[in-house]
Amino acid sequence: MDRPEAEPASGGQGTFSGNRGLAVEEGLLFEVGRAEVTGVDLPEVAVTPCLGGLERTRPIGLVGLSEPEAVRHYVRLSQKNYAIDTGPYPLGSCTMKHNPRLNERMARLPGLGDIHPLQPLSTVPGAVALIAELARWLGELTGMPVVAMTPKAGAHGELCGMMAIKAALLARGERRSVVLVPASAHGTNPATAALLGFAVATVPARPDGTVDPAEVERRLSPQVAAIMLTNPNTCGLFERDVVAIASAVHAAGAYVYADGANFNAVMGKVRPGDLGVDAMHINLHKTFSTPHGGGGPGAGPVALSAALAPFLPLPYAVIEEGGVRFVEHSGSASAAVAPFADAAGADASAARVADAGRRALGRICAFHGQMGTFVRALCYMLSHGGDGLRQAAEDAVLNANYIRASLRDVMSPAFGDLPCMHEVLFDDRWLEGTGITTLDFAKRMIDEGLHPMTVYFPLVVHGAMLIEPTESESRHSLDQFIAVLRALAAEAKSGHAPAFKAAPRFAPRRRLDETRAAREPRLRWTPAC
Ligand SMILES: Cc1ncc(COP(=O)(O)O)c(C=O)c1O
Repeated sequence: MDRPEAEPASGGQGTFSGNRGLAVEEGLLFEVGRAEVTGVDLPEVAVTPCLGGLERTRPIGLVGLSEPEAVRHYVRLSQKNYAIDTGPYPLGSCTMKHNPRLNERMARLPGLGDIHPLQPLSTVPGAVALIAELARWLGELTGMPVVAMTPKAGAHGELCGMMAIKAALLARGERRSVVLVPASAHGTNPATAALLGFAVATVPARPDGTVDPAEVERRLSPQVAAIMLTNPNTCGLFERDVVAIASAVHAAGAYVYADGANFNAVMGKVRPGDLGVDAMHINLHKTFSTPHGGGGPGAGPVALSAALAPFLPLPYAVIEEGGVRFVEHSGSASAAVAPFADAAGADASAARVADAGRRALGRICAFHGQMGTFVRALCYMLSHGGDGLRQAAEDAVLNANYIRASLRDVMSPAFGDLPCMHEVLFDDRWLEGTGITTLDFAKRMIDEGLHPMTVYFPLVVHGAMLIEPTESESRHSLDQFIAVLRALAAEAKSGHAPAFKAAPRFAPRRRLDETRAAREPRLRWTPAC
């Protein structure tokens, strides 16, 4: 990326050094390093060549820096990070949870932080018990009998759940080819269905942003394998007809996959299993702490209904009288599945349970899941307790509605005055005639020290601005956020388009030429000369 042009020191925002305040502008390490400098002082050693002529003949081009230079560089970089620990992080559909320091401390306990995936299970009984206990909490919260713990992210959980659905259909001797996906769905939903070879049939949203059961019924046929429904949906609205939709889907012999990425709005309030859901992933990183900016880390366990329980992927934990046991191979599964029999109720006849091992999906990834995220999630649950989790869901919804009510007269809520769940969606009608786009507005927020909301998602709304205030934001912090947005909205409407087009002006980097970046990606640094 090109650096911003140096600005003249006199007038404007320019400085002689390029630094702003105490924020230091510096080159890449490859630009500032000097070959003759080193941070370590190692004695020369005489090496006897023994690689048959494959020894290096040239230096490998490591950057030459003194130790203080290297330390300063990385500390400065870390100071340029923006995180939920720095300020509000209102990215809708990406729930940035506060991660209490207690969780972090627990995740770093030597027995948990240093655990190795190749360690014999006999050496980690505590970790095994922790995974089983977390699965028990998730089962309790979702109202579903079994939970696959290994998926590594929400999208991976979707794959796992939809594989279970496909396996269940195949076990019935059916090869259904279509999956219904509402138009507002996260892109990972249709992508998952397509990856498994299904054709995707889109269900349009009705004018209030939710799914109409009549539209679902119109599309149901013996070819439909499942519907993938997000609840609350990506417009931040509760799908109030979920029960009617689920029973219509079941009556057609299909399954209900719920995208549970927004579970933080309903945990402790409603159990998806009671609504007719057959499979649902939970983004532990969104709902149960572990802030995940930049694509990780995360975990996407999948809760499965009794009908899908036999298709739980390996490995899974079984709570027995003497403790917890991991079932690693399908051969050992028949006895091990027995503890699920109660939960699966009448559906889980002895024969069915004994058959489970043969039909189990096998592994969907190596090892046993994302330990650090598991520890943080269980710690979050235990420290909140059941009532605390419910309170977190209520606070998330309250905060989003506070923002909605405080901005509805200056911005345009996408679906009128309907209350929202944990996130509030605005469209860009209120910017009409200003020459300012959603992107300009988001960039201008950066100059005011605010991380932008999610923009242009969901796609069902023009110029979408999806704001999700974390439930842990205080009234004071929400009021500051609202005050800045109101001021910016007034500025936008009073014809100050250039200030928006030029934003961000105070960030370490200016706006990317996104078209050029997409058309001519420069993915490797090359020296200037
Ligand atoms: C509604 C929804 N579904 C699925 C996902 C995918 O989750 P992940 O990013 O963990 O793969 C997300 C991620 O933000 C989401 O918001």
